[in-house]
Amino acid sequence: MCGIVAAIGSRKVAPLLLQGLQRLEYRGYDSAGLATVAPGQLHCCKAEGKLVNLREKLEKTPVAGCCGIGHTRWATHGKPDARNAHPQLDEAGQVAVVQNGIIENHRPLRQHLEQRGSRFNSDTDTEVIPHLVAQALANLPDTVPPTDRLRVAVAQAVQQLEGAYALAVIWLGQPEELVVVRYHAPLLIGLGEGEFFCASDTPALADVASSIVSLEDGEMARLTPLGVELFDGSGQRIQRTPQPLRGGNYTADKRQFRHFMLKEIHEQADVAAGWVERCLAAPIDEGLTTALQNVQRVQLLACGTSRHAALVGAHLLEQLAGVPSSVHYASEFRYAPPPLLPQTLTIGVTQSGETADTLAALTIEMERRRALEPNSPPRLLGITNRPDSSLGRLVPHILDLKAGVETGVAATKTFLGQMLAFYAIALHMASQHQSASAQVTACRQALAQLPEQLSRMLHAMDQCCADLAHGFAETKDVIYLGRGINYPIALEGALKLKEISYIHAEGYPAGEMKHGPIALLDQHVPVVSIATPGPVFEKVLSNAQEAKARDARLIGIGPVCADTEIFDVLLPIPSVPELVSPLLTVVPMQLLAYHVAAHRGLDVDQPRNLAKSVTVE
Ligand code: M6R
Repeated sequence: MCGIVAAIGSRKVAPLLLQGLQRLEYRGYDSAGLATVAPGQLHCCKAEGKLVNLREKLEKTPVAGCCGIGHTRWATHGKPDARNAHPQLDEAGQVAVVQNGIIENHRPLRQHLEQRGSRFNSDTDTEVIPHLVAQALANLPDTVPPTDRLRVAVAQAVQQLEGAYALAVIWLGQPEELVVVRYHAPLLIGLGEGEFFCASDTPALADVASSIVSLEDGEMARLTPLGVELFDGSGQRIQRTPQPLRGGNYTADKRQFRHFMLKEIHEQADVAAGWVERCLAAPIDEGLTTALQNVQRVQLLACGTSRHAALVGAHLLEQLAGVPSSVHYASEFRYAPPPLLPQTLTIGVTQSGETADTLAALTIEMERRRALEPNSPPRLLGITNRPDSSLGRLVPHILDLKAGVETGVAATKTFLGQMLAFYAIALHMASQHQSASAQVTACRQALAQLPEQLSRMLHAMDQCCADLAHGFAETKDVIYLGRGINYPIALEGALKLKEISYIHAEGYPAGEMKHGPIALLDQHVPVVSIATPGPVFEKVLSNAQEAKARDARLIGIGPVCADTEIFDVLLPIPSVPELVSPLLTVVPMQLLAYHVAAHRGLDVDQPRNLAKSVTVE
């Protein structure tokens, strides 16, 4: 993960770097740092913890220079402390590097450098890079002109690296330039008015750059106050037309809410309103109709919460549209993809559009499809909240969630948006296949009511969940049960609780309980059971009874009816067709997790060890 920024121009660079880092803090927030270079001086300032700590340090000891690099970290190698924060420097303190990614062969490189006398100060994989660059600089022949020396040295250094990385380098020997490289990790160049930038993601470039150039894998750029030069992997100059930087609203405001997550949960009625129009409209999106034509099967690739949305999606595609669908963990798919079948649509689901595993799985699939069907474009679709992301550049079709900025690390409104995207796709495909017409009609009618229902429910449910959260003060384990289309919601409820409250939670298909997990139950383990009327309603209630018989406290999520009286507490949802119910049952899951974490006084929006987008394997 991690976010990197770099800037060069005629203004003091440290405030620009801090502003960029602020917009990238979603990528990691366990430590941060920056380095600036000016004639005769290279300054580096690093702090453990969030960016605010670095900001405070810099207020006390400002750093000079109009050229610099910055980093916000999510630790991979080495503890999250100031020593392991980036930038990492060479021994002489003349070369500074920030890196996002993983250098897989850092151990042998480090060993080799140590044998030759280098001394290391951190436990990071990154530290080998400034050492390699410094070594290359020292060995360059005098014939290499001063303006090429850093670029050539960085090129020699990266030739020795294995892994995936994006990096930016400055050097005391040439204080008016910086060199950046991209290899399987995102990196964009931003062009401003007499100043130039680079960053892991577009929000860091908004307000300072008017256009962007994206680097391809293996490419390198040299930025000076006069402009940007691009080079391919063999060191040849290349040209690329900049693209206008599409304005996006990257500023986030908590409004009256205590946390972003709570605000984002409450924004779901608006997300639904936008989507319901799209679900009920035909065609859903320009270009998408073509992608969905003659599709015989669908495979879905995703991670985490996005995978849970994909599970709901696969259920809808099969039950509403009659299209066989499979869901894969992107991290598993990339190393064991299933056999290729024709007329398969592959959908990558990722709110950030930057998840490394999902992007890699999609890339592999694209290559396999091209080899199988060289004459037809691969059928790939992306569902994301960030159409301007790496996913947007990778796949031919994007379905934009349009959920607005999601700042909380725990995905909420984007999850609802992802599920709604699948309702839109499934309804569209159902109309193509003319399948399940009664269900389709019921589904359409229920969707039309959704925004209003969500809005009322969100207001009514918030206090119920806040009250219920008090009973979780000593809780160590929670079991979530669901069946059919609500099984993924049980998984999502458990994931939300784990992520932000650090309570152990597991989601199971309710029918699986008696095959093992029931052994976990006693009076200390609450069971949250989703019980919505449908073909297996009675069975779900029996499964809940079985838990109750083991003294577990039963929390039900479902409509108020005589059958749901078995629950110790019921978090009521409106009565809707079962196929539409996940759009409502997810709300109490999110609110319960939120209030349990908030009640424990935890950092709900930036939970420990996590980041909003996971850009490492
Ligand atoms: O950006 P993506 O949707 O690809 O992210 C996938 C997961 O990393 C993500 O859903 C993660 O599980 C979240 N923290 C969920 O709240």
